[in-house]
Amino acid sequence: TASNQVNIVEVGPRDGLQNEKGVIPVSVKAELISRLGRAGVQIIEAGSFVSPKWVPQMAGTAEVLAKAERFPGVRYPVLVPNQKGLDAVTSLLAQNPASPPLTDEISIFTAATDAFTRANLNTTTAESLERLAPVTRAALDQGLRVRGYVSVVIACPYSGPVDYARVRDVAKALVDMGCYEVSLGDTVGMGTPAQVSEMLEEVKKSVPVENLAGHFHDTYGTAVSNVLTALEHGIRTIDASIGGLGGCPYSPGATGNVATEDVLYALQGSKYHVAGTKDGTIDLEQMVDIGWWISEQLGRESTSRAGRAIRAR
Ligand code: HMG
Ligand code: MG
Repeated sequence: TASNQVNIVEVGPRDGLQNEKGVIPVSVKAELISRLGRAGVQIIEAGSFVSPKWVPQMAGTAEVLAKAERFPGVRYPVLVPNQKGLDAVTSLLAQNPASPPLTDEISIFTAATDAFTRANLNTTTAESLERLAPVTRAALDQGLRVRGYVSVVIACPYSGPVDYARVRDVAKALVDMGCYEVSLGDTVGMGTPAQVSEMLEEVKKSVPVENLAGHFHDTYGTAVSNVLTALEHGIRTIDASIGGLGGCPYSPGATGNVATEDVLYALQGSKYHVAGTKDGTIDLEQMVDIGWWISEQLGRESTSRAGRAIRAR
């Protein structure tokens, strides 16, 4: 049924690659996005328009977007931290008129603690919301969709345990600003299912669950469990990363997002149906191959547990 349809936001090309040490060629990033589209992924976070001084790996996102093979019905959101980022998206779209456009969606981001917002955006949470409001308005005015992220919803690498009332208030502020959805990020990847449950109960007091997404890093091995916990709470959009790539440069020690392959595997035969463009879903075998391919490009093995097991069959 529609209510048990799960949407995956594949964040590998952005969250997955932003933390890499070496330089990843534009051609590899574009190829990753092309392959994900071919495997049936419907929402692919393609990159960021952030300061290259802060996150050098995301330089070249405009070229990546222009180069990647695009598939009908697939969306390619990009991260934008400020007006300058939105201006870059606007000029990319003006220079590359295409139907459908190269992207129709931006993601803005802030955090539940001032310490993390300071590390990630060089400002406080309240100030970041003030700065993001006009950016969101301008994006909506030009017909873009706007998604919001709240980082450190469980624990902060700088200030410790997080007050879930703060998560709730920041999520609500993003929805009030015009975000159609707010993704709740366990940036550190420390959250347990019990903590995620408690956090979601609090956030749901102010934000309808239809407007929420779950974004779990897997540092302590709880990410798949946290995904299932979020689904049981009524969340139907899950951020995941091919091959389990990822990490935030401003969250030291945090590992990648929950692996997309692991989510696909865990939901097989369940009451949930993962939406996608390949026979109505996302092809697990193809995703396993992509997870290995991109990991090999980065000089390592896939960290997806399902990806490793399926490869070893
Ligand atoms: P700042 O230093 O206060 O800003 O940084 P500034 O305005 O002084 O700009 C510094 C320099 O960057 C200037 O260049 C600007 O022009 C340039 P200079 O004059 O020195 O040559 N600049 C830009 N260049 C390109 N695109 C832009 C842009 N903006 C400024 N948009 C700033 C403030 C917001 C820019 C900076 O803090 C920044 O870029 N932060 C982004 C950090 C980031 O991308 N973090 C990772 C993504 S968030 C994440 O991973 C969490 C998530 O996955 C969820 C979760 O897991 O929790 C989403
Ligand atoms: Mg993240």
